[in-house]
Amino acid sequence: MAYQRKEIDIAQVQRQKDICGEILGRNQQAGATPLAMVDTYGCQQNEADSEKIRGYLAEMGYGFTDNEFEADVIVINTCAVREHAEMRVLGNVGALNHSKKARPSQIIAVCGCMVQQEHMAQKIKMSYPVVDLVFGPHELWRFPEHLKAVMDSHKRRFAAAADEGAVIEGMPIHRDRGVKAWLSIMYGCNNFCSYCIVPYVRGRERSRHPEEILKEARELVAAGYKDITLLGQNVNSYGKDLEEDVDFADLIRMINDIPGDFLIRFMTSHPKDATEKLFKTMAECEKCAHQLHLPVQSGSDRILKLMNRVYTREKYIEKARLARSYMPDLVVTTDIIVGFPGETEADFADTLSLCEEIRYDAMFTFIYSKRQGTPAATMPDPYTRADKQRHFDALMELSNTISGEKHKEYEGKTLRVLIDGETGKDEYNLSSRTNGGRLVHLKGDRSLIGQFVEVEIVSSNNWALYGRIAP
Ligand code: SAH
Ligand code: SF4
Ligand code: F3S
Repeated sequence: MAYQRKEIDIAQVQRQKDICGEILGRNQQAGATPLAMVDTYGCQQNEADSEKIRGYLAEMGYGFTDNEFEADVIVINTCAVREHAEMRVLGNVGALNHSKKARPSQIIAVCGCMVQQEHMAQKIKMSYPVVDLVFGPHELWRFPEHLKAVMDSHKRRFAAAADEGAVIEGMPIHRDRGVKAWLSIMYGCNNFCSYCIVPYVRGRERSRHPEEILKEARELVAAGYKDITLLGQNVNSYGKDLEEDVDFADLIRMINDIPGDFLIRFMTSHPKDATEKLFKTMAECEKCAHQLHLPVQSGSDRILKLMNRVYTREKYIEKARLARSYMPDLVVTTDIIVGFPGETEADFADTLSLCEEIRYDAMFTFIYSKRQGTPAATMPDPYTRADKQRHFDALMELSNTISGEKHKEYEGKTLRVLIDGETGKDEYNLSSRTNGGRLVHLKGDRSLIGQFVEVEIVSSNNWALYGRIAP
């Protein structure tokens, strides 16, 4: 059955905020400010979700801590994309036995993608009694209700039933003060790449209305954020589910029209839906960063087909060329999976040659991890872990070499960067990003954080550039 778009009535979100008010009242009566710890795994989407959890917690009167022994409420926001991510979560949840022993009234919640999988919710139910509350991504907006139920009943609660997801507006968001902000423009994914768990745990693709996004973007600019990243699993299909006639390129143009000095970035772009209109719009909109994260996953047509990526190597290369023809200074990055079931030496050689052809500024490489319930999990996988590791190492080496060479090309050039924080080092005490998102270390006064400055690049390595503020 086709997905029926669902929008949660704002009155229902208000009910959740009213519950926050009730908990705030109790917390105020108790005297001292209670503390909460929110620990986030996974992608930027999860970071953005954690900002909403913190938003609710702040409305309940909680302050924040990174120390589990100080926390009255702990929320672990999990990721399911690879086994390694799940293992880390389970290890850390197990270790919370200690903090709970020291503070028996502590409430421990585990939420996010990992627990949206039935077998993982079960595992926590059976093997991790320290956990009081489990809720999946679709239940996040009802976090206050679930938390209060646990507080009142002193019983464990599990809320991660299968769901296709809804669009919810009006949740409070607690962002760290700073230069960069995440802005979700859509949720879910419809692509069902054969290796990937995300569509199963995040539900169907659904876009926020442009006016809601614009309202939030205006607020971010007014609050002084200078680097705004638009988030979605596949931002290029933004708007397809809306009645309004609006696509991702149109949205960029609308955000670009907001007055102020700030940068627009976005992730992630699925190559199949990246259009010439998008590249043209990026080139024309002065606030849109010349940065494109365009995950290729593999350079082999055979593997791309098994992955259900719906493009060929040739089509991908064509798109990357087209994008660069509009923006010669475009920074292009990618994700690659090594060791997909049945990937041969020849398939891997295709991946290497594609990377040499595209010359990515940076590559994020992963060894394939089997995800229960996905089509790839049942594909024959005859190659050993050692083969995969060897390929992974070779790809990392190529990636480092190309990044290093690309960084060398910056030396002697002067470019505009946005200073976004401190490094903790003496010599190069500030960190900044180029328009294309490359990291530049420099020396300067911390009062420059949040400002755009001209920097001369004096040296580089495989990971970063080093610069001097131009006189
Ligand atoms: N929506 C984004 C990707 C989200 S997941 C996109 O399509 O580009 C981030 C990355 O994790 C993916 O690009 C992929 O390279 C990697 N990944 C996803 N599932 C994986 C798996 N089962 N094993 C290894 N890597 C995986
Ligand atoms: Fe996963 Fe593919 Fe969707 Fe990305 S586009 S989240 S890799 S299914
Ligand atoms: Fe992980 Fe969920 Fe993001 S599986 S990568 S946290 S969408």
